[in-house]
Amino acid sequence: MRIGIFGTGDVGRALGRGFAMLGHEVKMGSRDANNEKATAWASEVGALASVGTFADAARFAELGVLATLWSGTQSALNLAGAQNLAGKVLIDATNPLVFAPGAPPALALGHTDSGGEQVQRWAPQARVVKAFNTVGYAHFVKPQIPGGPPDMFICGNDAAAKTSVTSILTAFGWNTIDMGGIEGARLLEPMCVLWVLYGARTNSWNHAFKLLKK
Ligand SMILES: NC(=O)c1ccc[n+]([C@@H]2O[C@H](COP(=O)([O-])OP(=O)(O)OC[C@H]3O[C@@H](n4cnc5c(N)ncnc54)[C@H](OP(=O)(O)O)[C@@H]3O)[C@@H](O)[C@H]2O)c1
Repeated sequence: MRIGIFGTGDVGRALGRGFAMLGHEVKMGSRDANNEKATAWASEVGALASVGTFADAARFAELGVLATLWSGTQSALNLAGAQNLAGKVLIDATNPLVFAPGAPPALALGHTDSGGEQVQRWAPQARVVKAFNTVGYAHFVKPQIPGGPPDMFICGNDAAAKTSVTSILTAFGWNTIDMGGIEGARLLEPMCVLWVLYGARTNSWNHAFKLLKK
C-alpha cells in the first residue's frame, strides 16, 4: 500500500519506518519539500521512502497518517488539500496539546469536543481513525513490554476504515480495541496526558495500556 505521512517529528518518522519495514511505500510530507528531517529519514529507510510537500504526500497516499504538532494540524490539512484525502483512511495520531514553560502538557480541548472530531471536520471526506495517540513513539512498532501485547484503543466513524487500521496494528504488534465513533477521542486524548504523567512521576517511558477482561 502507498502510505502518506504528514509530519517529520518522532511520530511520523517512527510510523514511516514501521510501514516501510512491512514493505509499504511511504512518502513523508511537510511544509517544505526539501525538509532536512524528512530527507535524512528517507536516506535511512531506503528505497521504499520518499519525501514531498503535505499535498504530495496526500496525493500519493492510499492511506494517510496525521502526525503534526496540534497547533499546526489544521494548517497541515489545508496544505494537504481535503480533496486529496477524500475517501481515504486517515490515521490521526495527534494529541491536542498546549505547552507552557515549566508545566506538563495540557489538553487544548475536551469533554464536548476532541482533536479527532476536529480532524474529521477539517477533512470531512477522509475516513478518520484515531490511533497511536496513547503511547510514546518508541513503542509504536513491535512493542516489547512484559504482559503484552498492549492494547491500542481506536475510534472512528467508518467501520471498514477501522478494520483496515486494526490489520495494520496487528502487523505492528498491537491488540486493538475499538471504542466506537470518533467522539471516543474525547476520552482517548486524555489518556496521552495520563501516559505522560506516569512517565514523568516514575522517570520511565516503557509503559502502555491494557484493558483486562474475562
Ligand atoms: N512524541 C510522541 O511520542 C507522541 C506519541 C503519540 C502522539 N503524539 C502526537 O503526535 C503528533 C506529532 O508529534 P511529534 O512529537 O512527532 O512531532 P511534533 O513536533 O509535535 O510535530 C512535528 C510536525 O508538525 C509540523 N508542524 C509544526 N507546526 C506546523 C504548522 N504551523 N503548520 C504545519 N505543520 C506544522 C512540522 O512540520 P514541518 O516538518 O513542516 O516543520 C512537523 O512535521 C503530536 O500531535 C503529538 O502530540 C506524540
